[in-house]
Amino acid sequence: MDDDQIRSLVDSRNGTVKPAIYSDAQLYELELERVFGRTWLFLAHESQIPKPGDFFNTFMGEDPVLVVRQKDGSVQVMMNQCRHRGMKLCHADSGNTKAFTCPYHGWAYQVDGALQSVPLEKEAYRGKLDKSKWGLIKAPRVESYKGLIFANWDESAPDLVTYLGDMAWYLDGFLDRREGGTEVVGGVHKWMIDCNWKFAAEQFCSDQYHAPYTHASAIQVLAPTPQNKPDGSPLGDGQTERPAWANGLGGVQFAGKGHGSAFFFTENADANVWVGGEVSAYFRETYPEAEARLGKVRALRLAGHNTMFPTLSWLNGTQTLRVWHPRGPGRIEVWVFCIADKAAPPEVKEALKKSHARAFGPAGFLEQDDSENWIEVQKVLRGHKARQTDFCMQMGLGFEERREDGIPGITNGTFAETAARGFYQRWVDLMTGKSWNEIEAAGAAWEQEVIDA
Ligand code: FES
Ligand code: FE
Repeated sequence: MDDDQIRSLVDSRNGTVKPAIYSDAQLYELELERVFGRTWLFLAHESQIPKPGDFFNTFMGEDPVLVVRQKDGSVQVMMNQCRHRGMKLCHADSGNTKAFTCPYHGWAYQVDGALQSVPLEKEAYRGKLDKSKWGLIKAPRVESYKGLIFANWDESAPDLVTYLGDMAWYLDGFLDRREGGTEVVGGVHKWMIDCNWKFAAEQFCSDQYHAPYTHASAIQVLAPTPQNKPDGSPLGDGQTERPAWANGLGGVQFAGKGHGSAFFFTENADANVWVGGEVSAYFRETYPEAEARLGKVRALRLAGHNTMFPTLSWLNGTQTLRVWHPRGPGRIEVWVFCIADKAAPPEVKEALKKSHARAFGPAGFLEQDDSENWIEVQKVLRGHKARQTDFCMQMGLGFEERREDGIPGITNGTFAETAARGFYQRWVDLMTGKSWNEIEAAGAAWEQEVIDA
């Protein structure tokens, strides 16, 4: 597929996309190279590998990688692939080791990826193997942002903070509420969903429109109000006010460079806390510290969904951070982490873990609502005619503006697809751009055009 054909699939000026972007196998192969081969991909949280020799086993796109803490405290990212015949070196999810030994013929690598020993080296290789040439392949770029570790295969990519752009402002609201930063609480939930990665990433980037309808039953159960309580009586113990996202406050922000955020806040810290019980009380108690660090708007922002392009998403409030690892055009492997302030007391971390799993674990009552939709759309796309039919992405077209209250990015109403259009424009720019200069310039031009329109 050539560049013009790829460009014809997304019309971000008029708000249409062609479904081939979710189902075409050839496009998917190009994505592995041009999107996942050159964007910053989230791998692990610093708290998961605190000591030298600690490792976390994960993926960059479909490539298996090991994220390993080195003796000097730095982090290296290397292919989890033996250089002899390509066997997966390490099958443990995480742990601590002095070496990675291949289960096939026994080549062993140091934690920095250097090939250390080869069975029967003298007899089999007659002393001729140059081990210095056969170390593990490493990601050339590894950087952290406030506890989150990322890597990039592309040496020419902008640094991580430049890549984040305005999205760092939103990410800070999640990671920087309290002194000491955050940590991962509990293990990583992993499961498969039969849908293209862009359905999940785009929804967290931009789609507030689905919430009142898809999550209608959850909203009613989760957030009783005097209005929807049958007897109209006041809220009782443990009952929270109707969440801000159910009321449709705030707006969807396109944060530039493909990133997006649905942003909700009210003037009342209590009204925005909808996760219940100890977790609500904790957010309320720590609000002054958060306000001192982040300012009022972000301190009050305790709900809202976000995507950092391409596949890292998170939700304020339920504290879920997730990666949509691609597994072919019609499948993703979801990895979900619960993020808590390091300074939170143990009982709050425990409560957060439970509230997180209840809402957004694999059986979470909100999680299931979302994935069911993506699976059904993907099933429809097995039809030939279904794949020829343009999708409408025109909500809020022409109503984009910059805010004057310091919230960065391009704003639109609560129900708008500006961030989705920006997300797909970034996808096109990456799929067709020959250099990062070209990609960044195309993104900036698109933003200006949208504002001027
Ligand atoms: Fe790893 Fe042979 S494939 S030692
Ligand atoms: Fe949802």
